Amino acid sequence: MNILLRGGLVVSSVNTKRLDVLISNGKILKIGRHLNDKEAQVVDCSGKLIFPGFIDAHTHFDLEVCDTVTADDFSTGTKAAVCGGTTTIVDFATQNKGETLSHALNNWHLKAFSKSSCDYAFHMAISDWNERVKEEIAAMFEQGVTSFKVYMTYDAMMLSDEEIFDVLSTLKKYGGIAGVHCENDGVIKALTKDYKNNENLSATTHPRVRPALCEAEAVDRLISIARIVDVPVVIVHLSSKESLQVVKKHRENGAVVYVETCPQYLLLDESRYEQKGLQSARFVCSPPLRTKSDNAALWHALKNGEIQTVATDHCSFTLEQKSVGLEDFSKMPNGLPSVETRPVLMYSYGVCKRKITLEQMCKLLSENPAKLYGMYPKKGVIRVGSDADIVIFDPKASGFISKNTHHSKSDYTPYEGVHTKGRVDTVYLRGKLVVKNGEVVLENKGKYVKRAVSDLK
Ligand code: URP
Ligand code: ZN
Ligand code: ZN
Repeated sequence: MNILLRGGLVVSSVNTKRLDVLISNGKILKIGRHLNDKEAQVVDCSGKLIFPGFIDAHTHFDLEVCDTVTADDFSTGTKAAVCGGTTTIVDFATQNKGETLSHALNNWHLKAFSKSSCDYAFHMAISDWNERVKEEIAAMFEQGVTSFKVYMTYDAMMLSDEEIFDVLSTLKKYGGIAGVHCENDGVIKALTKDYKNNENLSATTHPRVRPALCEAEAVDRLISIARIVDVPVVIVHLSSKESLQVVKKHRENGAVVYVETCPQYLLLDESRYEQKGLQSARFVCSPPLRTKSDNAALWHALKNGEIQTVATDHCSFTLEQKSVGLEDFSKMPNGLPSVETRPVLMYSYGVCKRKITLEQMCKLLSENPAKLYGMYPKKGVIRVGSDADIVIFDPKASGFISKNTHHSKSDYTPYEGVHTKGRVDTVYLRGKLVVKNGEVVLENKGKYVKRAVSDLK
């Protein structure tokens, strides 16, 4: 049956207009004023905002880290995602050393297939680069994997500068793009050794061994390599004003650099690490939380278009899993849960605080990730012919974030007790009603999204 969303305020990256939206066969059939369809189920959307389904292009579900596995797999992670209005996630299929890329991709398809409640795509994280792996890159593109992640730190995954150069040169042939985790590994190791020698092993030490300049140096090196190869590159989870300055410098010299940041780098700061034990452990992620002045610089950069996407880097653990590193911070699994809370946080603390506009929120959370990762205009926009991935958002509602009401399997949220404005009320995934009154009403309808190459201008 067709569905007619009547009288809502439809948000795009350029404007917000009162329009009706007619959905048929999972697609958007018509958009206009005073639409009529005698057969359609009519949904009154007056007073509501209508967003294109949000896209979270940075999640880690069912990932092995530090001898444990993330609390959320594709089942719980995508349920949490869709409850918060995210209708597509792009997770990191991750190659273990010695594995082929096709093995890793197959592994991730098995993890996600028939268990996903929102649509999903994969980046490929390359941990082991050699001639055989290089030959697999063409097959990745054929299977809709057009973006790749490279780590500049973490022993299990990092590549050398020489390997990064070769990865970027190879991707260039296919029009592919790399998202890079930028931190200077050598400095992190040296600082970790110093702090351990002085028996500073609590989570409070975590941000001290990963200072902002460690990130900025790696961002500088990465963009320099990308400029030599002459390819665009994405800096994922950028956290500091120092890194923003580096990006600015390279852009002024002609580099094409896309920047992603995450809610934790906008809303939380390093004071969280001053608390004792698990209170501080629950905020351990890499890069670490920075200062309030970094938060402000990132908001400013969102406002003036220097940052292109806001993703979550959702990598969730329980407090018990985090507690493994209580005696030694370097053994703690890194990462935070937030796949469910990103849209409402960006609305409450971005739009309502006038740090970004409604249209910018739509661009950062829907349109730009769709374009950057080759899914536009199927995803990321309310347009005739696009997938009917739609979020009906009630701007008048308010609430609090709590572990007691979230859908992640993590037994904490970094935003416990945080007041929110607005609420995701209803979500359609390719025309199917999947969330009603903020709760999942239809599970496991997510499908794999085969992506084209990046097309963000
Ligand atoms: O601490 C984090 N961010 N863990 C997830 C893996 C990564 O670096 O993206
Ligand atoms: Zn990373
Ligand atoms: Zn990540």
